[in-house]
Amino acid sequence: MSASKMIYLSLNNGKQMPIIGLGTWLSKKGEVYQGVKDAIDCGYRHIDCALVYGNEDEIGKALNESMKAKKVKREELYIVTKLWLTYTRPDRVIKGIERSLKNLGLTYVDLYLMHWPHSFAQQDESFFPYDKNGVIRGEDVDYVDTWKAMEELVTKGLTKSIGVSNFNSKQIERLLKTATIKPVVNQIEVHPYMAQKKLIDFCRQREIQITAYAPLCSPTSTATTAEQKAKHDLLQDPVVKKIAEKYKKSTGQVLLRFAVDRNYAVIPKSVSKARIASNIQIFDFKLTGEEVKQLEGLDCGYRTCTMAEFKGTPNLKHYPFQKDIEF
Ligand SMILES: NC(=O)c1ccc[n+]([C@@H]2O[C@H](COP(=O)([O-])OP(=O)(O)OC[C@H]3O[C@@H](n4cnc5c(N)ncnc54)[C@H](OP(=O)(O)O)[C@@H]3O)[C@@H](O)[C@H]2O)c1
Repeated sequence: MSASKMIYLSLNNGKQMPIIGLGTWLSKKGEVYQGVKDAIDCGYRHIDCALVYGNEDEIGKALNESMKAKKVKREELYIVTKLWLTYTRPDRVIKGIERSLKNLGLTYVDLYLMHWPHSFAQQDESFFPYDKNGVIRGEDVDYVDTWKAMEELVTKGLTKSIGVSNFNSKQIERLLKTATIKPVVNQIEVHPYMAQKKLIDFCRQREIQITAYAPLCSPTSTATTAEQKAKHDLLQDPVVKKIAEKYKKSTGQVLLRFAVDRNYAVIPKSVSKARIASNIQIFDFKLTGEEVKQLEGLDCGYRTCTMAEFKGTPNLKHYPFQKDIEF
């Protein structure tokens, strides 16, 4: 795909974000370097990273080499990374972004997201601070205080925009009451089994764009069991397969086009050159309104990413996916 075919979403601060990006969670060192280079060659300009993925240094190497080789300019790239839960205390927020920038070999990112609204114990040694019983240690940090420190990162020029991830509607509403800078994006899990109609509408009404993670239902996620994966094999769903046959596209391409036709950003992860290339070949067909509805009709509220595998996490203050919160 030529980069000129890319669709850009307008953010509430006047900036633009490419609608498709490359996901990098579980992209192994030794693979992600080539994956990012291949993605740039295929026309990807948006790369989704996070400190906790442990691979920002290789991604940075690939980005810097591609810029040096004049394949892409810094201002054409849209680099996103995320503040991990052990860096949310306001005085530690700058440390979180500085660590990512150093890893990436960049002086700024385009979008810095609060990875989750809840916090773990604030410390540098491990991203997952467990106690002696194997239970994750939380810390009572209020995300509205973290957000104030996130705002300062924009003033300091370390990021062009700031946003949130995994925030529920109540948390967004509360954040907006004190925010001086509005989040530009809420990055959340979205695919036909978790269609998120209400949260998407809620964010849009507040001029917050959506980025959909796990758009293929994260088939190799380490956070779900083999049984859950077998029960929720979205790439093999008959409804998705039928639409794919009609357009002579893969089921993966249909799931990514579902995002484009619902007008939010999407960040499929791949380290396979062929899948990286095919995942961006989605601008030469369009789903009908009826097909979008059919896919939305598959919604069964299935989340691949709950963090419940980290014992104790769902009980932490500000954990977003509580039963009494509708969306
Ligand atoms: N904010 C958050 O809390 C959060 C949470 C989860 C994820 N994310 C972000 O969202 C990105 C995407 O989510 P995800 O990685 O969980 O899941 P995903 O993109 O839904 O699925 C990735 C998996 O699908 C495979 N794949 C890629 N393209 C395919 C295709 N066309 N057909 C069949 N299989 C394909 C990949 O394998 P190969 O590499 O072998 O192709 C990989 O195993 C992450 O990488 C990360 O950047 C953010």
